[in-house]
This record gives sequence, structure tokens and C-alpha cells, in this order.
Amino acid sequence: MKYSKFSAVIIGSGIAGLYAALKIEQQLQLPNGVLLITKSKLGESNSYYAQGGMVAVLKENEKDSVESHVTDTIKAGAGLSELDTIRFISENSDKVVKDLLKFGVEFDRDENGKFTLTKEAAHSVRRILHSGGDATGREMEIALCQAVKENKNITLYENTVAVDLLIDENTCGGVVLLNENDEYETIYSNTVIMATGGLGQLYQYTTNPKGATGDGFALSYRAGAILQDMEFVQFHPTALAFDGAENRFLISEAVRGEGAKLCDEFGMEFMFKYHEKKELAPRDIVARSIFCEMNNNGDPCVFLNATGLGEEKLLKRFPTIAKKCKEYDIDITQDLIPVAPAAHYFMGGVKTNIRGESSVNGLYAIGEVSSTGLHGGNRLASNSLLECVVCAYEVAEYLKNIGVNDKGDFETNEIFNSIISKYEQETELKPVDVRALKEELQATMWSGVGIFRNEQVMKSAQANIEKLSKEFDREDKCLSKDEYELRNMLITAELIVKSALNRKESRGAHYRVDYLNTNEVCEHSLVDKNKGEIYFAK
Ligand code: FAD
Ligand code: SIN
Repeated sequence: MKYSKFSAVIIGSGIAGLYAALKIEQQLQLPNGVLLITKSKLGESNSYYAQGGMVAVLKENEKDSVESHVTDTIKAGAGLSELDTIRFISENSDKVVKDLLKFGVEFDRDENGKFTLTKEAAHSVRRILHSGGDATGREMEIALCQAVKENKNITLYENTVAVDLLIDENTCGGVVLLNENDEYETIYSNTVIMATGGLGQLYQYTTNPKGATGDGFALSYRAGAILQDMEFVQFHPTALAFDGAENRFLISEAVRGEGAKLCDEFGMEFMFKYHEKKELAPRDIVARSIFCEMNNNGDPCVFLNATGLGEEKLLKRFPTIAKKCKEYDIDITQDLIPVAPAAHYFMGGVKTNIRGESSVNGLYAIGEVSSTGLHGGNRLASNSLLECVVCAYEVAEYLKNIGVNDKGDFETNEIFNSIISKYEQETELKPVDVRALKEELQATMWSGVGIFRNEQVMKSAQANIEKLSKEFDREDKCLSKDEYELRNMLITAELIVKSALNRKESRGAHYRVDYLNTNEVCEHSLVDKNKGEIYFAK
């Protein structure tokens, strides 16, 4: 086992992790430097695939206001969003966008140099910045990765997975890592920032890439952090409906924002049956409507008709989508696009405030792994990237104000040593068929804890997850990165199904056919390893 010490450690190289590393390095004098760890190559993340864009209430946008953005976010959030959090993020969006430009991030502009803004479902005005047409995440990632690579004060570990946190008396003192050569390393640090993203890979159909295995939820839960609203999984209405890949390619909501219509294979539209805003109803409603149409007609998908937008606009605004569809022989200027819902985003997560502070001292969480209260029961499109950058900015500001402390008797801490020793010990574990267990878990979550939920089906999913955990039979040490991911997926799946069973109402993306009503009292569900049971709190 190798041992190192850093003043701050950031886990994850999505937009939240990259920007936090840059801001922390810029704002603080750190004797032991900043370490950025990422389990694949730099930049591989959900962020890279973000299409539609990032919300910003820009001072120069006369048609928009913080009030309007707050109202739209609250409406979409189904009563669970936190007003102060939304307001803070909205008010700070202009400042953070202007700061991102200094790190080389750019957004699409018109011929006069003004940002071009798009609209997505449930937004009342155009307020979404985009880049590369429909490749916002890729363009932001490329710029931020470049800035990180050029920054000599940020140490980078690629292809290195965080497998456990060092915790003593509810205080974090570092992290245990496994690198691509299957070597373990302990990093001591009083400041650990979890920026590990989401969990779409828990589901059979997802827009999320391979690495979205929920590691940060499981690591934080094991460390004793409080997790919030773990039942709230967002299903995107329109993923390209082709099987075979490890995830489904997204057809951005911005395509509907610009006027595309949902229809059946004959071009008959149907959204008018479900909501007055039709294609631009909140995301949970559109996903359920599509699922109903698919189930009623026994079809594997519905279709998106974007032909009305015109060839020139379509190809200019959505070049990535046009190119991907072409690979499947679909010309989006002429043909209907087959689409179906897929797991996309996770509203729940490590309970934090706007500065990323979790309930464990020294452990911060930012981006999709956190639950700040911005999204409530259903995230408003393009609010996620905004949350990533505002919280990354704020965690750096906060650390600057409190100062980072490098002191600690790390090496002699017996609790830390007992955690580390679990990874040093030789093991007699026998390899398992990770792929088969993973696929069964994904199918279980899709059919059991998906878009429509009920007690009977969820209980059977829960029993299956328990069975898979027994078969897997790992507590701490595993044999490979893939096994650690499966360990984390199983822990996270168990928390989702438990929380979903516990919430006996329908709210936002959590839709129970056996409890269709929404309770008058609106509460967050909380889960904490130390307490065991799930409990509710306002
Ligand atoms: P991520 O970008 O997911 O990054 C997580 C990082 O952590 C990765 O680098 C990963 O490798 C690393 N990691 C994970 N576990 C470990 C571990 N154990 N050890 C080490 N490293 C680890 N949101 C919007 O606001 N607008 C959009 O237009 C939009 N479009 C989207 C399109 C798609 C296809 C998808 C999938 C999502 C989209 N979203 C969008 C959601 C948004 O992209 C994500 O919520 C956001 O990018 C999450 O950023 P993040 O930095 O928190 O995590
Ligand atoms: C999309 O482009 O439809 C995704 C936007 C989001 O998830 O916020």
C-alpha cells in the first residue's frame, strides 16, 4: 500500500469535479496541493454527453428573471424543492457563467456576439445556453479538462477508482484508491469532495455512460453520510430506441423545445391527451405519457417528428443528433425518430447545503451525487449543469473562508488503519460473473423500480436485489474495479427500492399506481446507515 497526503481531494472529472479543482487551486494556498481522481480517462463522465445546455439567468436577457426561473423550477419540483437553494443558484448563475468563460468555456453566440438561448420543457422563456449546437457537455468538458491539464498545481490520477473513505468520529480523513494496475493507495486529506455523478447504469435502459454506477452514493452511505430522496430517479422521455449498446443515445429535449412533435408510427400526435403543454409538459409527465402509449399499443417506442423544423435549422442546431441518427439510417430532416424513455438523472443523493457540506465533517458532495434541494421531485431541464458549476464555485469560496487544515495524526489513527487493513489483506474471494449479476440488477430495477411503481412489484425487486447481494457476497474488499462498481450498484439499488417503498404517495418522478395521491405534507425522505430505517423530515 502506498500512502500520500493532499490538502484537498476531488473524486470525479465531470463538470462539477473539474471546475471545483480549478477554483480551489485558484482560490487557496494549499501546502499539500490538490488531487483530482477519476476512474476512467480524464473527462469521461455524464457531463461529456450533456446536450441541451445549461440554464443561466443572464443579466442581459431582458425577457428572463430570477423570479421566473425560480417559479419554473418550483413548479417542476413537485413541492420538494428548496426555495432558498433555487434562489441562490439562480441569482449566482450570471456570475458563474462569466467566470467559466475565463477558463476557456464558450457558448454558442449569434452574429452580434450575443449568446443564443434555447428553451426546453417547463421553462417559460428561452434561458438555456448551449455549445457546439447540441454538444454542450462535450464542449465544456474539453475546455475544463484542458485548463486542468495545463495547471501544474493539480495532480491528476486517471483510471483510479475511489473504493472507501476513511472516517473516524463522523469526520473524513481521506480515501482508499485502486489504480489500473490493481494497486491500492491511501490518500490522507481533511477535505474530500465527492463529484462522482449519477447512477443511470442501475437501469437496463439509460442515457448514462458505463461509469454512472452510483459509486458516490454508496461510498458516502458507507461513511455514515445522510442521503436524501433516494426514490427520485428521472426518466428522460426521448432516448433513441435501439438496443445493443451499454446506454441509449439521447435525443435532446431541446428538439421538442424548438418544435418537434411526439407521434405514433403514422405521424398521429398524442401529447394533447395528457397535458395542456403537450410536448413541453414537465419531463416526468412526458415520460409517463410515452410509456402509456407504448404499453397501450404494445410498441417498443413512439416517434419524434422533427421534420417541421426545416433542414437548415435542424442540421445547424442538432449536428450531433443528426450524425448519430444517420448511423442508424435515420435522416432527421425526413424521417420519424424512434424514441422511448430511459433512466437519465438522479434527484436524490448526499444531503448537502449549497457549499457541498455533507453531514460528515470534511466530506463534501457536489453535482449529481449531491441533493441540495434544487430539483425536488423532478428536475427542470438544464438545471443540473448549473447546479454543478454554482456548487463547485461555492465549495471553493467556502474552503477559502474557513481555510484548509492539513493537520492530523492520520498514520496513527487506529480506525483509519483498520479500514486500510481490509484492503491490504490477502483475500480468498472467488471471482464472480460481474456482467451477469449486473444485467440482472439492471433488469430488476427497470421492471421493479421504474416509471410506474407499486408495492408488490417493488417488494419482489427488493427480494431479487437481496438475492444478488448474497450471490455477490462482498462487504468491503473486491477483486477489481468492475466488482467495486457492482458493490456500489447493489448498495444504491437497495436504498432506492427501500425509499420508494417507504414513500406512499405519488410525487414528481416517483409515481405509485397504488398511491396515486400526493400528500399535502411535503417531506424529504432521509436515510442514514447509523439510524438504519428511512425517516421523513421537512
Ligand atoms: P459526472 O459528469 O457524471 O462525472 C462524474 C465523474 O466521477 C466521472 O468522471 C466518473 O468517472 C467519476 N467517478 C465516478 N465514480 C468514481 C469513483 N468511485 N472513483 C473515481 N472516479 C469516479 N444536464 C443539464 O443540465 N443539461 C443537459 O443538457 C444535460 N444533458 C444530458 C445528456 C445526457 C446524455 C446525460 C447522461 C445527462 C445530461 N444532463 C444534462 C445531466 C448532467 O449532464 C449531469 O447531471 C451532470 O453533468 C453531472 O455532472 P457531475 O460532474 O456531477 O458528474
Ligand atoms: C436534454 O438535452 O434533453 C437533456 C437536458 C437535461 O437533462 O437537462
